[in-house]
Amino acid sequence: MSTHPLRAGVIGAGAIGQQGHIPGFQAAGVEIAAVCDSNFARAQEVAHKFNIPKAFADYRQLLAQPEIEVVSVGLPNALHASVTIDALNAGKHVLCEKPMTTSGAWAEAMIAAAKKNGRLLSVNQHMRFDRTARAMRDIVASGCLGRVYLAESKWIRQQGIPGFGSWFTNKDLAGGGALYDIGVHLLDLILHLLDFPEVVAVKGFLSGELGKQKIGLGGWGADRFTDGRFDVDDTAFAVLTLKDGAQIRLLVTWAAFGPPEDRVTLYGTQGGLDRSNFFSDSPSLKRYWAHEGRIVADEPDLSPYPNERAWIQAVDAFIKAVRGEAPLVVLPEQALQVVRILEAIAASAASGREVVLT
Ligand SMILES: NC(=O)c1ccc[n+]([C@@H]2O[C@H](COP(=O)([O-])OP(=O)(O)OC[C@H]3O[C@@H](n4cnc5c(N)ncnc54)[C@H](O)[C@@H]3O)[C@@H](O)[C@H]2O)c1
Repeated sequence: MSTHPLRAGVIGAGAIGQQGHIPGFQAAGVEIAAVCDSNFARAQEVAHKFNIPKAFADYRQLLAQPEIEVVSVGLPNALHASVTIDALNAGKHVLCEKPMTTSGAWAEAMIAAAKKNGRLLSVNQHMRFDRTARAMRDIVASGCLGRVYLAESKWIRQQGIPGFGSWFTNKDLAGGGALYDIGVHLLDLILHLLDFPEVVAVKGFLSGELGKQKIGLGGWGADRFTDGRFDVDDTAFAVLTLKDGAQIRLLVTWAAFGPPEDRVTLYGTQGGLDRSNFFSDSPSLKRYWAHEGRIVADEPDLSPYPNERAWIQAVDAFIKAVRGEAPLVVLPEQALQVVRILEAIAASAASGREVVLT
């Protein structure tokens, strides 16, 4: 049994580094030994703010610190794979941000590096850890919904194009827009709720009409209004067909001429589940079933599930796996499946044809 506390390095001192990784490590009792950001002033500022002893501009310097056993990667999406692979090769366990990376080939290389080095790799799909998501998963697993034949999910931001002109809206650095940024969350969540069924075909549609006009900017992003490049989608729609014929429908927008909405609905042969207003102060979860031929509903009891912020729980779950206290929750192979589907949605949108996955 190790006598010293686990020590972490935080790569990327931007929004998620500061709001998710650092508080998550601290809450899990992990000592943060170093922070890195190519914007060195930001790295130093964050080190000072959170009392972190070392700050670096180059992540390789952080990886060279022998006392660091785990790292988080909170960088622009296109950098996830190379930095994660370097970290695994340096013997660190890695919690990488979502999306895992921007291509299936990169995701496979990340998994191979984790295996080769015998280190844990996970992806911060924190939405799985929210209490409503935990309740939904348990309800689905209980079998009381019967066979889920349709899952519908929506995340409509009216005014939420993050970091306009930053890496977020640059296809080379982000891989995609709303699809890769928030579509990835809903996709992972639904696949997790359904226990990662096989997806056999994908039809996708992407649009970036509002972003091009600089309509709907707002929300997240540390670096804004840099070069003004916007060549990603602000709207993504997809229909996924599962092996048993069931369908998953996904609609996400960063910006839209319509009311903001978020909703995940599962329709089963024996019952249904509907979660909405997840991002408000009063999220709603309803369960539906049949009583004497009529559809009735109630609100599942959430009290058995922790009410801690999902970001904190996600980091905690990863650390528990590193410490050998619990199995890893977000498996890299699952994240690979999600990346392959994101790629298929983009390919289908570009060709106008359904993509069949083998
Ligand atoms: N899980 C979530 O809910 C969630 C929420 C927000 C962001 N994210 C993910 O986190 C990642 C970062 O997003 P963010 O919102 O924190 O972005 P951000 O722009 O706020 O921060 C990114 C940081 O990376 C730094 N950086 C860029 N290139 C670097 C390099 N080569 N070496 C070191 N530092 C470098 C930038 O200077 C910046 O400080 C993205 O993958 C995003 O999808 C996840």
